[in-house]
Amino acid sequence: MEGKYDFGLVGLGVMGRNFILNVADNGFSAFGHDLDAEKVNALKEEGGSEAKVNASTSIKTFVQELKQPRKIMLLVPAGKIVDAVIESLLPHVDSGDIIIDGGNSFFTDTDRREAYLQEKGINFFGAGVSGGAKGARRGPSIMPGGSKSAYQHIKPIFEAVSAKYKGEPCVAYLGPKSSGNYVKMVHNGIEYGLMQLTSEIYDILKKAGGLDNDELHEAFAEWNEGRLQSFLVEITSEIFEQEDDLADGRLVDKILDKAKQKGTGKWTSQNAMDLGIPVPSIDIAVSMRQISALKEERVHADGLYDRPKVEQLPKAEIKKLAEEALYFSFIITYAQGLHQLADASEEYGYELDLTTISKIWRAGCIIRAGLLADIAEAFYANADLPNLLISPTFVEKVQQTVGSARILVSFAAKNGIPLPGLSNSLTYFDAYTSSRLPLNLIQGQRDYFGSHTYERLDREGIFHTEWE
Ligand code: 6PG
Repeated sequence: MEGKYDFGLVGLGVMGRNFILNVADNGFSAFGHDLDAEKVNALKEEGGSEAKVNASTSIKTFVQELKQPRKIMLLVPAGKIVDAVIESLLPHVDSGDIIIDGGNSFFTDTDRREAYLQEKGINFFGAGVSGGAKGARRGPSIMPGGSKSAYQHIKPIFEAVSAKYKGEPCVAYLGPKSSGNYVKMVHNGIEYGLMQLTSEIYDILKKAGGLDNDELHEAFAEWNEGRLQSFLVEITSEIFEQEDDLADGRLVDKILDKAKQKGTGKWTSQNAMDLGIPVPSIDIAVSMRQISALKEERVHADGLYDRPKVEQLPKAEIKKLAEEALYFSFIITYAQGLHQLADASEEYGYELDLTTISKIWRAGCIIRAGLLADIAEAFYANADLPNLLISPTFVEKVQQTVGSARILVSFAAKNGIPLPGLSNSLTYFDAYTSSRLPLNLIQGQRDYFGSHTYERLDREGIFHTEWE
């Protein structure tokens, strides 16, 4: 039996409800499903006309109400629930229907699900959705991967609901298999890196520049008007202004310094290790969330060691250094994430186009930034760019700002302020741009104790030495 609704969505939590209302606002009729009757009723009330938005707690009714080929998006927590929802849909769907997982699923789970559903004639998409609850309602960035021909059926809806950058939709078909989830995973790795860097800059402005919350707000707000313009810099400026409604003062000063994580940043790091691609600005962001979780141990250890008294720098000087260092390290973080995507594309056959990815990140998503327009142009000019640091435009941008990163990293080391994201970014830059590294010695050591052999600079071949 064929129904009349254009789009179906399972999981009517905040994200799901907002996404479905967004679909309806854009002229498509949508039907929702959730086992929780309260959520179903809430959506029906908010949706207004039943012809545009409707919902049911029955999975059978839900499927029957959709036009074929059915387009069913899941916005449920990643993991076993996705498998359970797929199983519950299977008795009711037909060959040619499309199931889209819009959650942060691990990419190998997506590959497994795609192969399983392909046998049953069902098209499966892993589509990363970024932008949080507001993005889902007003326009997220969407990263779909799966069958190219089936994408034609979802394209009009996704293009209508997605964020727009100067009129261009922030969604595009990215590639086959789990490419969509993979790209979203790396998006989140970059998100971790940028957040870590922002927190370090806040720390040094406060400790060495003595900036109060109003001054921090002003600094970030001013930066958001310039080359650092980005969602994360913008919300950071706003966070410093937020009054606490439970006690006097600003909320930011009362928030416990233990950062949680759901795993996507860690997956990015883990997979980069598997691929052999260095992403140290992302790795350290994951490690810092882990260190932050050790609050009690940190408090204890803090009492055991003396810390240097922090030298004070004039506010204007430290603000200038901080802006340049943040810009430099943002570039390095994007460069690492995109390098990982290029390599993963080869390894997993994703056929990724980095220009397209940079373009769909220009609006809607958490890592949206003015910088992404320049990144898209750099990949457009040279699609085979192995690393952003090779692009002539970026050579210039990095050249102009790396000096400030050096000053801040050495200042922070001398004064006992941890800037691990910034120093890892700087070290990555210095190593990536060194034609000679001291790893010749490591090869010598490996050959010395394990006969692991080495290559030479001056002749071809594999060598082993009987070291004396
Ligand atoms: C997005 C975000 C989102 C992510 C949260 C939580 O793009 O909208 O990346 O998908 O789940 O930011 O991430 P952590 O809890 O791991 O910080």
